[in-house]
Amino acid sequence: LNYHVPRTRREILEILLKGLHRLEYRGYDSAGVGIDGGNQKDLDSNIRSIQLIKQRGKVQALDEEINKQQDMDMDVEFDVHLGIAHTRWATHGAPSPVNSHPHRSDKNNEFIVIHNGIITNYKDLRKFLESKGYEFESETDTETIAKLVKYVYDNRENDITFATLVERVTQQLEGAFALVFKSVHYPDEAVGTRRGGPLLIGVRSDHQLSTDHIPILYRSSGKDKKSCSSLPRTDQDTCLFPVDQKSVEYYFASDASAVIEHTNRVIFLEDDDVAAVTEGRLSIHRIKRTAGDHPARAIQTLQMELQQIMKGNYSAFMQKEIFEQPESVFNTMRGRVNFADNTVTLGGLKDHIKEIQRCRRLILIACGTSYHAGVATRQVLEELTELPVMIELASDFLDRNTPVFRDDVCFFISQSGETADSLMALRYCKERGALTVGVTNTVGSSISRETDCGVHINAGPEIGVASTKAYTSQFVALIMFALLMCDDRISMQPRRREIIQGLRILPDLIKEVLSLDEEIQKLAVELYQQKSVLIMGRGYHYATCLEGALKIKEITYMHSEGILAGELKHGPLALVDNLMPVIMIIMRDHTYVKCQNALQQVVARQGRPIVICDQDDEETINSSSRTIKVPHCVDCLQGVLSVIPLQLLSFHLAVMRGFDVDCPRNLAKSVTVE
Ligand code: G6P
Repeated sequence: LNYHVPRTRREILEILLKGLHRLEYRGYDSAGVGIDGGNQKDLDSNIRSIQLIKQRGKVQALDEEINKQQDMDMDVEFDVHLGIAHTRWATHGAPSPVNSHPHRSDKNNEFIVIHNGIITNYKDLRKFLESKGYEFESETDTETIAKLVKYVYDNRENDITFATLVERVTQQLEGAFALVFKSVHYPDEAVGTRRGGPLLIGVRSDHQLSTDHIPILYRSSGKDKKSCSSLPRTDQDTCLFPVDQKSVEYYFASDASAVIEHTNRVIFLEDDDVAAVTEGRLSIHRIKRTAGDHPARAIQTLQMELQQIMKGNYSAFMQKEIFEQPESVFNTMRGRVNFADNTVTLGGLKDHIKEIQRCRRLILIACGTSYHAGVATRQVLEELTELPVMIELASDFLDRNTPVFRDDVCFFISQSGETADSLMALRYCKERGALTVGVTNTVGSSISRETDCGVHINAGPEIGVASTKAYTSQFVALIMFALLMCDDRISMQPRRREIIQGLRILPDLIKEVLSLDEEIQKLAVELYQQKSVLIMGRGYHYATCLEGALKIKEITYMHSEGILAGELKHGPLALVDNLMPVIMIIMRDHTYVKCQNALQQVVARQGRPIVICDQDDEETINSSSRTIKVPHCVDCLQGVLSVIPLQLLSFHLAVMRGFDVDCPRNLAKSVTVE
């Protein structure tokens, strides 16, 4: 939304499409944009209309569709303008232009809305609205919101502000959402709100911002009349900018990467905040103040750099992120691990560490790759904390109504910090009085804000849908936590020192593993036409098997299964023959002998496994037809190294099979729906 920054329609569309491009990594299957229509004459005589352009497929397809619009004068200049754009990942209704966002209230586009999330009571709302004569054109839950806002508007008793209108609409909604509205009835105004879905506002001004926080406006009573007068048109204190301030642009976005090239000053909205920009001023509204509410929202300065979200010389973000791991793992430890005196400091936990040390058990809850980071570090957590450690998939944890107690400490591991299942599990644990700890990669994300304390993994933005550097950083962050938990245990000191010194050399060892890239590419040439790959291991490397198989499934669409080698004889061995590709992980740790047994069992069935093993493990090297040799490090960190060949392999397989590595079909980076 721009104020007093004259922009042509072409520029406005460019900004919106660029924003969508930056969000492409989140995964989507259609895209759309809603902007002011009309020509200069219409605008001069204040005739407002909204134009919607929507397309199935990539943002590129939307761009081409926009270029086909003959009647759009691209050089019309706007002083004040709001445009909204969206990429959709289908939940209700197949990907198609009509199911794409923005959705509209009626054929005249009086209100349009974009939505991230799911409205669970949409069927009831739709039935009600249909009974009032509203005709629906799509199969989506979102269209209900567009119709509902018009219904509330048409049935208003007095003039109401756009913010109040939206507030009334969201009171009827159940489920999860981040929404942005535009309307011909409120030209040049924007309203955004969220509940469960992420939403931030970037603020760009050529002038110094007059404040670093925005006070919340509470409706002092439940009556709407009151709420209208409490809006900030005349209240300078509640506004970010005076009305005569020149050159202000606001960017509502679900993710900072969409706005970072315009500004690094952002406000993260909380659930049920309604943010409105009216005449160049930003105000944030809530219905009432409840205990524990912070009465203001801070304007934060993000550290993210544009270059961090660009591909550079790599062919895909995933490839860039795999190769960034020496630095990202180092950044996770930076300023936290002191290698000279073998100490670990985690600022985000320091006020709670005593309480955590007294707890009865640790529960690690996550989805996808983040879950595997929990599996990978469980053993060392058990060893160093001497606590029972449960590892839970968020969805299953909720399905089971798992008992949680006040003396439990629950960890929520999430790259994005927005995964709906993990967020719901977090709220579930909070309600039961457990202490909650976030392990996230996204400053300002819902999980990092809603947990009692936490660790940012500082891996830098991860764009590839298939997670790589976040995994190794989560791994290291959890190890740092385990080290902190036992820092005053005398008996643990030799082990602690061994691990900390292992961490010191880890970035260099990662570099060594990355130098195997060419060799792994050759292996991919041999494997890329296969239908299936089995990955076997045990102990510290079971997680590597699960994670490697997930990477292969996600981006190559080959079937792949991570198999606990201890379970081999209980079923999976039946899959092994001379044709089935098998990868085994055999490292010289306490499971070595058992892994050798598994290797023999596979070889005895004519299997010809490819073995990931220690560089100097002659025994394995001599008895295997093919090995990928990785440097040796302390047992509980070895998983950081053993996973990298599988990340590289999945990448090369996907490229050879001709797939878009960063945007695998049907998948999204941030799954903000349950
Ligand atoms: C999605 C992504 C995965 C990711 C999982 C958990 O499925 O495609 O790569 O591991 O969500 O995401 P989180 O952001 O919570 O780590």
